[in-house]
Amino acid sequence: MNDAPAAPAPVIPAAYFGERVTWVHHWTDRLFSFRCTRDAAFRFRAGEFAMIGLMVNGKPLVRAYSVASPTWDEELEFLSIKVQDGPLTSRLQHVQVGDTVLIGKKPTGTLVTDNLLPGRTLWLLATGTGLAPYLSLAREPDVYERYEKVVVAHTVRQVAELAHRELFERDLPAHEFLGEIVAGKLLYYPSVTREPFRTQGRITDLIESGRIFADLGLPALDPAHDRVMLCGSEAMNRDCKALLEGRGFVEGSNNSPGTYVVEKAFVTK
Ligand code: A2P
Repeated sequence: MNDAPAAPAPVIPAAYFGERVTWVHHWTDRLFSFRCTRDAAFRFRAGEFAMIGLMVNGKPLVRAYSVASPTWDEELEFLSIKVQDGPLTSRLQHVQVGDTVLIGKKPTGTLVTDNLLPGRTLWLLATGTGLAPYLSLAREPDVYERYEKVVVAHTVRQVAELAHRELFERDLPAHEFLGEIVAGKLLYYPSVTREPFRTQGRITDLIESGRIFADLGLPALDPAHDRVMLCGSEAMNRDCKALLEGRGFVEGSNNSPGTYVVEKAFVTK
């Protein structure tokens, strides 16, 4: 018989919910997803991020993560890179079902439809883990009431990094409630830069060359009708911003809606 007392449950600081991991999926050696339970009091708008992490040496170690699940989901989902010497992701990549993760109680962010003026087509442009907020937005019925078309354009280095490709290509069109809502409206446009794939190249080049518009059968970006969200690396955001502003797009924010909004795909370590 072991009389040792059970390890005390970790004390969760008041700014966080302690949630239980329910699912982990490793896409590649650089990318993984996990799901956890959701406190009934955790409310967010599709596209927002929260501070997420682990208790390390009795203290919270957290980074900003976009919520990848829709607002109606009873669980929460996140998409993360893995960096072997990254302070958080070197640990977070080892989470297992049943482990406790910290979820900050105050989600926020700019990638919300309220920050955009009404328009015809919503372009959701991402590189890498920048896809996360769009995984939430693309499953939100309200988004399809606001826009005639919703384009999710995801660019990654390798085909295996096209996380959730099957969600867009197979599961959402067949979904019992969302299938009808997204039919004819949701367009998924994956591209790959460092391996052969049906669409190769950076999103900036695909826009400049006009290829993305030809492939999708949509007119070239125009601030009169199009609304754009950007979520990628600093370099991607900077180059896309310049491209959009060169075409007359104006950045929106929480107090003044515009024709595009931008947020960094935060965690790089
Ligand atoms: P590339 O392979 O040409 O660098 P990362 O994994 O480094 O975050 O990159 C994710 C994707 O973003 C890659 O396909 C990468 O293309 C692309 N990318 C990197 N920088 C830019 C940029 N300035 N504009 C557009 N896409 C970019």
